[in-house]
Amino acid sequence: MIENDNKLTPIIELNGITKEYCAKATFFSKGYTSVMALDNINLAIQKGDIFGLVGQSGSGKTTLGRLLLKLESPTKGIMKFNGKSINDLKGKGLKTYRSKVQMIFQDPYQSLNPHLSIAETILEPLIVNKIGDHNSRKEKAIETLDTVGLTPGKEYYDRYPHQLSGGQRQRVAIARAIVLDPEFIVADEPTSMLDATIAIQLFKLLQQIKEKYNMTFFFITHNLAAAKYLCNKIAVIHNGIIVENGPSDQVIQHPEHPYTKQLIQAQPKLNF
Ligand SMILES: Nc1ncnc2c1ncn2[C@@H]1O[C@H](COP(=O)(O)OP(=O)(O)O)[C@@H](O)[C@H]1O
Ligand SMILES: [Mg+2]
Repeated sequence: MIENDNKLTPIIELNGITKEYCAKATFFSKGYTSVMALDNINLAIQKGDIFGLVGQSGSGKTTLGRLLLKLESPTKGIMKFNGKSINDLKGKGLKTYRSKVQMIFQDPYQSLNPHLSIAETILEPLIVNKIGDHNSRKEKAIETLDTVGLTPGKEYYDRYPHQLSGGQRQRVAIARAIVLDPEFIVADEPTSMLDATIAIQLFKLLQQIKEKYNMTFFFITHNLAAAKYLCNKIAVIHNGIIVENGPSDQVIQHPEHPYTKQLIQAQPKLNF
């Protein structure tokens, strides 16, 4: 029966997701005002997608990423992971979810703890989740460093973040994100602080990881060219509303919403 085909169940499904923040009063307004960071978001992400979320600063991208990681809760709406609601996850269920869903942050200079060696950074999720023993964890960490292109892994193992470039640090952040073999990775503008040539190398790495492990990526960016380069699907977000959503080629070649058309015109050279 096609209806029960597992491939058709999205890995992530968002139905009517709304996030409203209470903002403190400003000089011009008394009491509290509210900010509608996300307004009735409906999205389905299929297993194996590199799904791009494109929008300008303040459009709600990070808020959506944080909701997906369950760092915050939606004001309204239902979030599903592999067909099951994750809205009310707590305790053990939440811990399991957090091992299956990982995040790569924007700033590789702030996201790595400067006091931890590369080894400690990558081993931490394995230790917290009680996976393997000392030797197997070390083996896995070195193998993961090799996978993210820090080769030979053994040479990077005992280094510290300050000894690495921005691109290398972001590779460590990727290694930390994939070491638990997660199903879904949210990458929040992971290359926006890096040179374009380094960004392209990291995109190639993310594509290799997706192929090798069949992971699903949610790639957040303000750069439509980057999304076109990397993603098979693109959603465009504007003031907390998804205004366009479809296969990348369709969104770029036949945009329907004026805001998407504006974004495309603003970046006439869409070959990243
Ligand atoms: N914790 C918060 N409290 C109040 N407002 C917030 C908070 N986080 C985000 N916002 C507001 O929500 C909107 C979306 O922010 P954000 O998701 O960070 O956008 P983006 O990542 O696209 O730049 C902005 O108007 C921002 O000021
Ligand atoms: Mg952001």
